[in-house]
Amino acid sequence: MQKKWWHGKVAYQIYPKSFYDTNGDGIGDLRGIIEKLDYLKDLGVDIVWISPCYCSPLADQGYDISDYYKIDPRFGTMEDMDELIKEAKKRDMYIVLDLVVNHCSDEHEWFRKALADPEGPYGKYFYIEECKDGTLPCNWRSYFGGPVWEQIPGTDKYYLHVFHKKQPDLNWENPEVRREIYKMINWWLDKGIAGFRIDAIINIKKALPFHDYPSDRDDGLSPIHLMLQEAEGVLDFLHEMADHTFKPHNAFSVGEVFNEKPEELPEFIGDDGCFSTMFDFNETIFGSSPRGWYDSTPITPDDYKRCCFESQRKVEDVGFLSNIIENHDEPRGVSRYIPEGDCNDYSKKMLGTISFMLKGLPFLYQGQEIGMENITFQSIDEVDDVSTLDEYQVALKAGLTPKEALKAVNRLSRDNARTPFQWSAEKNAGFTSGTPWLRVNPNYTEINAAGETARENSVLNYYKKLTALRKDPAYADTIVYGRLIPFLEDRHNLMAFFRKGENQTLLVLANYQSEPQHVTLETPCRKILLNNYEDAGIKDKEIVLKGYQALVLEM
Ligand code: GLC
Ligand code: CA
Repeated sequence: MQKKWWHGKVAYQIYPKSFYDTNGDGIGDLRGIIEKLDYLKDLGVDIVWISPCYCSPLADQGYDISDYYKIDPRFGTMEDMDELIKEAKKRDMYIVLDLVVNHCSDEHEWFRKALADPEGPYGKYFYIEECKDGTLPCNWRSYFGGPVWEQIPGTDKYYLHVFHKKQPDLNWENPEVRREIYKMINWWLDKGIAGFRIDAIINIKKALPFHDYPSDRDDGLSPIHLMLQEAEGVLDFLHEMADHTFKPHNAFSVGEVFNEKPEELPEFIGDDGCFSTMFDFNETIFGSSPRGWYDSTPITPDDYKRCCFESQRKVEDVGFLSNIIENHDEPRGVSRYIPEGDCNDYSKKMLGTISFMLKGLPFLYQGQEIGMENITFQSIDEVDDVSTLDEYQVALKAGLTPKEALKAVNRLSRDNARTPFQWSAEKNAGFTSGTPWLRVNPNYTEINAAGETARENSVLNYYKKLTALRKDPAYADTIVYGRLIPFLEDRHNLMAFFRKGENQTLLVLANYQSEPQHVTLETPCRKILLNNYEDAGIKDKEIVLKGYQALVLEM
C-alpha cells in the first residue's frame, strides 16, 4: 500500500449547527468552530470535516444546498470560512468540507430554471419525466419515505428525488452537470481546503430506463437498494471526478458509500481508487429491517465484533477504512453499542479504544470524546429530523401506539447525535446564550467538556491518550499500518486483536461485558500502553479483565 499524508491522522466531524454558537441565535456557526480549534488541537485532532454550511433552506439540515459557492448567513460568511482555513493551517490542521452532489436544493438556481422551462437546458440537469395518466415512471421509495417522484405544479411532469422532495437529484448522465460539479470542487480545493467527505455518492448512478422493482411493503414501493444493485457504472463517474479534481490537488476524500459491490472495493479505495478512504458502516447497518426502524434488531457485543472484523478482512490488502462509532445520521455509539444499563465511563472508553486501535482512520464525531449519549424525546414534536418523522409514521402505520412508536424511533433517531454540544454545566450546556435550535440533552450537567477537562480520568482525557498513542513515534507505524489479527475470536463478549508491525506486536483486549473475564496470553506482555482502569490485573501471562476493561499491550 502506498503511504499517504493522511494515514496517521485523527479526524473529527463537526455538525456546525450544533457545535458552538457565538452570536446567540441558537445555531452553531463558523466563528464557533474557529474559537474551538484549540480545543480540537489539544484533543489531538488533525482533520476536521464540517457537515454542510453552504446556503440552504435546511430542509435536510444543509444537505439541501441552494448555492455551493456561498456560506449560509446562519453559519457566517465566506470571510469566516477563509479565516477558519487559515487558522486551521496555522495549527497544522486540515479542513474537509461536505460534498453533496447527488442532489441540490429545490431552491437552487438550476432547479428554479428547470421548473421555469423543463424542456430547456436546465431541465436536463435533473430527471424530469412526463406522466400523462399520473402513472409514475417507477415505484422506487425515497429514503425519507413516499415515492421518489414529485409533481411539478401545474404540469403533468414529475421530478426525481431519492431523498426529500426538496432535494431533486442531479442528472449525472449530463456531461454539463458533471463539468459544473468539478468546477465547484476545484474552486473549493483552490481555496485551500484539504478535501471532501462525499455524501450519498452511490446514488448518482441510476439504473435506466426507469422501471419497477418488487415491493417490500404495502405501499407498493421498492427500496432503492434494489435499483442500486442493478445500476452499473458509478465508478466511471467517480474516476472521472477524481481525475479532474481530487487527484491533481492531492486532496483527501472520504466516501459515504453504501451498497458497493465487493469486487469494486479496490476501485473505490485501492492505491488508484477514486477515494482516499470510505466509512465502515457495517455496524450501523446491522439489524436493519426492510419494514422500518421500529422493526430493527439491536446489536450484541458479539455481533459488533463480527461486523468490525468482517470489514477489516474485506479491505485487508486493499486500502484504508474510516472507522466511526457514530455520525450525524446515527444515534450515539455509546447508547447503541453498549448493552442497556452498562453505559458508563469504562464502557465508553472501551468502545473508544476499539475504534481507535482498529486499522484505518479514526473519525470522532463531536461529543463522542466526552461520551455524549442519546437523548430521550418526550414527544414527537421535539424531533426535527425528517427521517425520524417519517419512521415514526411508518411505525404508527404498522400498528404501534404513539408511545411505542416514539420509543422505537428514539433508539435510532438522527437527532440523538444532533443535540447541542455540551461545553459546560452552564445554561444550555454553554452552547448558546440564546435558545438552542434543538433541545439540549439534560445530562449536560454531568457530561460536559469543561468538567471533563478538569477531571483526570474522564472520557475526554482518555480520548486524548488514544490520540497521543496513535501519534507516539514508538508505536504509530504499527497502529497505522500493522496487520490486524483477531485473537480468541470465538470467545463470547471478548473483542481482542493483535496489530502486527514490522518489528512490533500490540495486543488490544476489550472485555465487552460487565462481568470479569479471564484471558491467558500466548507470550508475556512487555508494557501496558493503555488501560481504562487504574490497575491492569496482569500476572505473567494471566489476565483477569474487569467489566468493560480495555487494555493495549506491547507484546
Ligand atoms: C447523507 C447525509 C445525510 C443526508 C443524506 C442526503 O446520508 O449524511 O445527513 O440526509 O445524505 O443528503
Ligand atoms: Ca450562531
